[in-house]
Amino acid sequence: MKVSVVGAGHVGATVAQNVAQLEIANEVVLADIVEGLPQGKGLDLWESAPIKGFDSRLVGTNDYKDTKDSDVVVITAGVPRKPGMSRDDLLNTNFNIVKSVTEEIAKYSPRTIVIVVSNPLDVMAYTVMKVSGFEPNRVVGMAGILDTARYRSFIALEADVSVKDIQAMVLGGHGDNMVPLPHFTTISGIPVTHFISKDKLNAIIERTRKGGGEIVGYLKTGSAYYAPGAAVAQMVEAIAKDSNRILPCSAWLTGQFGIKDTFVGVPVKLGRNGIKEIIELPLTDEESAALKISADHVKVNIDKLTV
Ligand code: APR
Repeated sequence: MKVSVVGAGHVGATVAQNVAQLEIANEVVLADIVEGLPQGKGLDLWESAPIKGFDSRLVGTNDYKDTKDSDVVVITAGVPRKPGMSRDDLLNTNFNIVKSVTEEIAKYSPRTIVIVVSNPLDVMAYTVMKVSGFEPNRVVGMAGILDTARYRSFIALEADVSVKDIQAMVLGGHGDNMVPLPHFTTISGIPVTHFISKDKLNAIIERTRKGGGEIVGYLKTGSAYYAPGAAVAQMVEAIAKDSNRILPCSAWLTGQFGIKDTFVGVPVKLGRNGIKEIIELPLTDEESAALKISADHVKVNIDKLTV
């Protein structure tokens, strides 16, 4: 298994570290346009291998030739948000970057699965699919796992229980109108409302929606990367091990949930060929309407692009 990560910034380097430590790839390539940056980070990460005890070889490069025949490519190239910015404000800048990166990837790794991380996530996933010409199952956006992880982490704090016992799913576009599903949220199978009042849960949902902005507000010069990096690694692992995990990811919809012609976060079965199946859940009318609003928001931005 060969995994390439394009963009050796905060998210990219964290993805490379997590993937290498999981030992699911024999080769991890970190690529970036800035000379020396991927080489330096790649070497530094490789020098951690004897301590952490992993045998995935890490290399950094400015040359896409080194990403040739990757099984999975993760795109993190682009600019992150600064305080006061929405993910949508990154649209034009990141569109041009993601487009040029995709052309290189399609050239050197025509059979790869692509995990898209650059924001605005769902629109960038669309960009990758269009520019590469790849089948929709081979283009998957990372957002739902991160949004769900934020939601689960806040629930764990509020209920004072292990994060391991919290099952949940956050759907929708990766933006402030994402759709957490309280009635699918359980703590070891017990409805979350047994542990947390409705008011407290609503406050957690609100905090989850603004979770990315909360981190940007603290960091001031960029956006989150530890949790996003871990989320991507979980997706790479599901693909590498062909494990059929059911995870919320951004996928191209063709009528599922009554939505078509857009990428949006839904539960998918993830394995060796990327998205094997989109799992259609019975949503309440309110949840369906919220998912539709979220999808329409992504579509408005897709329509602004000339791909
Ligand atoms: N090709 C390759 N790498 C590029 C290109 C390009 N055309 N353009 C920019 N990059 C690289 C930058 O050189 C930088 O190293 O992308 C990297 C981005 O890293 P950071 O600025 O640290 O941003 P990061 O926090 O990693 O976020 C990257 O992920 O979560 C999203 O919104 C976030 O869109 C942003 C992306």
